[in-house]
Amino acid sequence: MDVKNVTVLGAGTMGRGIAQASAMAGCSVVLYDIKQEFVDGGIAGISKILGKSVEKGKRTQEEVDGIMGRIKKSIDLAEAVKDADFVVEAVPENLDLKKKVFADLDKLCKPAAILASNTSVLPVTAIASATQRPSKVIGTHFFNPAAVMKLVEVITPIGVAEETVQITMDFCKKIGKVPVKCKDTPGFIVNALLGSFYQIAAQMVMDGVATAEDIDTAMKLGANHPMGPCELADFGGFDIIANGSDEMFKYTSGKSGQLCLLYRKMIEAGRLGRKNGKGFYDYLPDGTKKPFKLF
Ligand code: 3HC
Repeated sequence: MDVKNVTVLGAGTMGRGIAQASAMAGCSVVLYDIKQEFVDGGIAGISKILGKSVEKGKRTQEEVDGIMGRIKKSIDLAEAVKDADFVVEAVPENLDLKKKVFADLDKLCKPAAILASNTSVLPVTAIASATQRPSKVIGTHFFNPAAVMKLVEVITPIGVAEETVQITMDFCKKIGKVPVKCKDTPGFIVNALLGSFYQIAAQMVMDGVATAEDIDTAMKLGANHPMGPCELADFGGFDIIANGSDEMFKYTSGKSGQLCLLYRKMIEAGRLGRKNGKGFYDYLPDGTKKPFKLF
């Protein structure tokens, strides 16, 4: 199957990026969320990013109009998925919520439709079990910012059909991504590794080994990472990191996913990262940032 109609559930950071990438590749996209303000926020976010690319001379206004014209908004799930070849779910990381969404999708989508979860840490096999079509349920783990980052981890739960995996790999390539297959294991490849990275960096800050800024500088200049671990933790959000770690801890019986106490303290202090302007750094209205003095 050549995927033409894509529905993305959830207009948050990941959902809007996946919708943008799909529309840029020429797919017809429906961006769904439960409230009009959420969908409007997603569309406004995509429009702003694409607007900047026109200012930078990377795209023409006509190209942007074409991309935006391929994205429809919806707050009606049945309507949003009725023509979908491929559904990507990007709702909050809660297993019960995802299972409910997939049970609904199973009833509402056409039989050939593939149902993909963008979960970053939850078991896709458990999500698939909520449907009568586990052979057509798969994981597509995109990376933030999803319109830009090349990788998609294609997560293969128990019971998935080889045809589903192939269509998913082809779809990822069609939208300009590089898919990598991975078994349904906690944190998959990247988050299983990045999890330790976040924890060790925060522990170094707590132990006074170096400042967050110096740890970031060290990893950017010493390991050629585009962002250091503290900047990246700010970018992802401490609440998201805490939730991911707690899920990892649960599914590995504590073998990994031990959250550094500093993240819990930051969350208690109302510091969530870049999303509210307060993380390892303070993000200022003029677009710059300055290190926050933690201790
Ligand atoms: N949302 C959408 N697009 C964004 C963006 C954002 N937050 N930030 C930057 N972009 C786009 C820009 O619009 C630009 O697009 P264009 O080429 O079409 O104009 C492009 O990215 C490059 O941006 P800039 O030139 O402004 O900035 P940089 O070259 O510094 O790149 C970056 C920004 C891509 C964010 C880069 O710093 C980077 O790669 N950082 C690391 C990101 C990373 O590691 N992500 C993975 C996080 S882990 C994860 O996602 C796990 C999952 O479970 C959530």
